[in-house]
Amino acid sequence: MSAEKSFPHGDTAWFQRDRFGMFIHWGLYSMPARHEWIRNKEAIQDEDYQIYFELFDPDMFNPKEWAKAAKDAGMKYFVITAKHHEGFCLWDSKYTDYKATNTPAGRDLLKEVIDAFRAEGLKVGLYYSLIDWHHPDFTIDTLHPMTRHNSMPVEERQKINASRDMAKYRKYMLDQIEELLTNYGKIDILWFDFSYPQAKPDGKGKDDWGSEDIIKLIRKLQPHVIIDNRLDLPGASDIVTPEQYTPKRGMTDENGKPVVWEGCQTFSGSWGYYRDEMSWKTPELCIQMLIHHVSRGGNMLMNVGPTSRGYIDSRAMNRLEAFGKWMKYHSRSIYNCTSAPEEFEEPLDCRYTYNPETNRLYLHIFSWPHKKVVIPGIGNRIRYIQLLNDGSECLFTVKDGSSGTHMFEKGTPGDADVLLPDLKPDVAVPVLEIFLKQGNERGTGKKEENQLV
Ligand code: GLC
Repeated sequence: MSAEKSFPHGDTAWFQRDRFGMFIHWGLYSMPARHEWIRNKEAIQDEDYQIYFELFDPDMFNPKEWAKAAKDAGMKYFVITAKHHEGFCLWDSKYTDYKATNTPAGRDLLKEVIDAFRAEGLKVGLYYSLIDWHHPDFTIDTLHPMTRHNSMPVEERQKINASRDMAKYRKYMLDQIEELLTNYGKIDILWFDFSYPQAKPDGKGKDDWGSEDIIKLIRKLQPHVIIDNRLDLPGASDIVTPEQYTPKRGMTDENGKPVVWEGCQTFSGSWGYYRDEMSWKTPELCIQMLIHHVSRGGNMLMNVGPTSRGYIDSRAMNRLEAFGKWMKYHSRSIYNCTSAPEEFEEPLDCRYTYNPETNRLYLHIFSWPHKKVVIPGIGNRIRYIQLLNDGSECLFTVKDGSSGTHMFEKGTPGDADVLLPDLKPDVAVPVLEIFLKQGNERGTGKKEENQLV
C-alpha cells in the first residue's frame, strides 16, 4: 500500500468519449523557428532573446481558422501554451510585462484563441509551463539557458541563485493560474509542464512548484478541471501523459488498474514551428497513431506549431485535412470508443476499438490483405459485418475445422474469415464495423464455406 495522499479529481467522462484533441505550441520561439527549446539548445541569453519579443507581430493570426481546422479534423478539444518554458505569456497577465500585449501584436492573443475554439464547440485546455527561463526569481538549474549546458561553475550558479527567490516565483504561478481560471470562463484542462526532480544537481519537483497549493487553488476555483500528471504530486492528477511514444498496451497504475491517459504527439518531432525539420510523419501514419491510441484506451493530443505570422503551415494543414477526410467516414470508430474486451484477439496488422454502448467492434486494417482478414477465435459472436466507409456488407465464415480444399485453408476452429474486396477502399485506413451478438441473437450475413465456392 502506498502512503499516497488522496485528492479530489476532475471530470474525465467527456474526455474519454471525445478522444482527440489539438495541442498548440505558439510563442516567441515560432520566430527563430528552430524548436521551442531553442533558448536551452543554443544557450540564448535574455538580452539576445529580446529581439523576438520586440518584433513578434503575427499579422496573419486568425484563430477562427485554427479552430475550424481543428474541428474539421475531428478534434473535440484543444490545449494551447498560455506560457511555455521561455516564460512569454500569450495573455494580458497583470503579473508580468513579458506578454503579448507588449509586443507589436498588442493584444491578448489567448483570449481570441479561446473565444474562437469555444465558438466551434471545442473544449478548452491551457498548457502552463512550470519552468520559466525568463522570470528573475526562477533559480537557474541544469536546464536553464544561463548555465550554458552546465558549463557554468556550480559556485557561480549558487551565487546567482542567492538573489533569486523561488517563493516569489511560486506566488507568481498561483497568481497567474488564478487569473487564467478567473478571466477566461470555463477551463476544461490544465496541462502543467514539467517536473525533473531526478535531474542532477538541481532538478525541480513538487516542493519547488508548490504543487499542493496549485492543486488546492484549482479545485477551489474550477473543481471539474482535468489536471495532467507533471506536477510531481502522486495521486493528484487526472490523466497520464506519455509523450512522443504510443504505449503498446493501455496504461495502468502501479496496481495494474487502468488509468485515463492521453498521448501527446507531433507531426514532425518539434512542438514549436520548426521551418527546416524534415521528419514529417505521413498522413496515414498520423491516422494510424490516433487509432492505436484509442485501441489502447487512450486519447491523442496532436500538436500544431503555428508560424510567427500566425497561420498553420501547409504541411500541418495537409495532415489535419487528412484526419478530417478519414474522420468524416470513420469517427464512429473513435468517439465513445475504447479498447476491445480482452477476449478479442487482434488479427495481424490490425487494431480494434470498441464501443461498449452499441456493442460494436471496429477492426482497423493497417495493411490491406489478400482477399480476407482472419479474425482469431471470435467464434459465434458476429452478427453482421460491414465496411464502415460505405456501409457495405462483408460476408464471413466461421471455421469449424473441417478439411480445407485447394481453394480454402482449413483454418483454426473458431476463427472467422471475412471476405474483403481485392481493392482496398479509397480511404487511408479501412475499418470493418462488427456488430456483435447480444445474447441469443441470430447472425445474418453468414454463409457456409461451400456456398462461397
Ligand atoms: C516537453 C517539452 C516541451 C513540450 C512538451 C509537450 O516536456 O519540454 O517543449 O511542450 O513536452 O508535451
